[in-house]
Amino acid sequence: MNGYYHIITYGCQMNVHDSEKIAGMLGEMGYINTDKIDNADIIVFNTCCIRENAENHAYGNIGMLKKLKSAKKDLIIAVGGCMPQQIGKADILHKKFPYVDIIFGTHNLGNLKELILEKRSGKKSVVEITDGGEVTEGDNPLRTSYPNAWVNIMYGCDNFCSYCIVPYVRGRERSRLPENILAEAQGLVKDGYKEITLLGQNVNSYGKGIDGASFPSLLNSIASFDGKFRLRFMTSHPKDFSEDLVKVIAANPKICNNVHLPVQSGSDRILKAMNRRYTSKQYLEKIEILKKYIPDCTVTTDLIVGFPGETDEDFKDTLNLVKEVGYSSAFTFVYSPRQGTRAAQMDNQIPEDISKARIMELVELVNSQTREQSAKYVGKTCEILCEGYDEKKDIFLGRDEYGRMGYFKSEENPVGEFVNIKITEANGVSLYGEKIR
Ligand code: SAH
Ligand code: SF4
Ligand code: F3S
Repeated sequence: MNGYYHIITYGCQMNVHDSEKIAGMLGEMGYINTDKIDNADIIVFNTCCIRENAENHAYGNIGMLKKLKSAKKDLIIAVGGCMPQQIGKADILHKKFPYVDIIFGTHNLGNLKELILEKRSGKKSVVEITDGGEVTEGDNPLRTSYPNAWVNIMYGCDNFCSYCIVPYVRGRERSRLPENILAEAQGLVKDGYKEITLLGQNVNSYGKGIDGASFPSLLNSIASFDGKFRLRFMTSHPKDFSEDLVKVIAANPKICNNVHLPVQSGSDRILKAMNRRYTSKQYLEKIEILKKYIPDCTVTTDLIVGFPGETDEDFKDTLNLVKEVGYSSAFTFVYSPRQGTRAAQMDNQIPEDISKARIMELVELVNSQTREQSAKYVGKTCEILCEGYDEKKDIFLGRDEYGRMGYFKSEENPVGEFVNIKITEANGVSLYGEKIR
């Protein structure tokens, strides 16, 4: 053993899975995980920069380590992920936190072992940030989300939505070869994982540049593996969400009838300024196709309020679209200008008080829809894939196919099992029930 590691992860599932890869590498180097940061010999921050507050969280937490570092000279502090990948950010991090030992970008994750060895060999600080990036194979992640397993199918993004930093920090879109994805997924099912979630910034454009590859056919192949498991994927860009894909979801019971389809705004003017490349009408047509083939499919979304130039009228269009689609839940965000993106340069940035009022109204609407839909579950039976145990409340939890959280008591430990529960109570997106024997 080489000591203890502690990883702090911010941001999306992509980062959560990257942290599993980091944990795998640290394990191979002889480090062991610790939940107590004070015990750690190496601390890794896997950062996010999608909104300003994500960066502020990281700044705050890295700042708090100054004391620990001066008390423990051999402690190694590494900062990686999306934040340092922004132009000039590594310098800022270096100046702000001179006690950080290693700074690495999203494209340098695979080199972390070497960077740590370099640091341990006596170098003061190690910085590695490169552009671009290849598709790497042969990662050996230490998976932490059993019974779910994350599987990257592609990296990067080519969409350049005008508000978004992701294409700048994750590079151009590149897909893994289908045979490598299929081998990984097959191995996971054999190892007993009960849910596979395919990851990409825009999974619907999977396979560009690979002969014969497409997202619907990839999904179809994985869904035809033997064994009982669920298949999910994220995220779908509405412009590439096709009828072929819907048909594959409808035809395969293993693919969950729950789709995350970020709309961002209900106003055509704003959608255009966001460079989303669909109108609200086109988006609604996609929802219609989805409901035609899979009437019970739940839809979740991402919404941004306060994009530059958003008027009360535009915001009303968003509210109306939310009502029309009837999302089962939604992630709502206040627009945050990101340096280097087109939207950050736009006139008419919206004052904070207006954005705050809008987000409150939107959250209230989304929550009321969620509550209304959840209430209909009371008295019904749901199949929950048990994911974990809440010690404080002495209750097990998991999700149904449609993405709702279900809570129930159990004498035995059913984590990783499919459990039928009869719903007795609904609260927001959460359902409470009794296990059926
Ligand atoms: N690739 C995915 C999601 C990427 S980021 C997609 O295209 O849907 C997740 C969400 O963060 C986005 O859907 C968007 O709603 C939000 N987001 C991205 N940039 C943002 C910004 N600058 N300000 C506020 N929210 C943002
Ligand atoms: Fe960002 Fe748009 Fe790419 Fe999603 S599709 S990661 S929102 S640029
Ligand atoms: Fe994800 Fe944040 Fe990077 S949302 S891709 S970790 S900027």
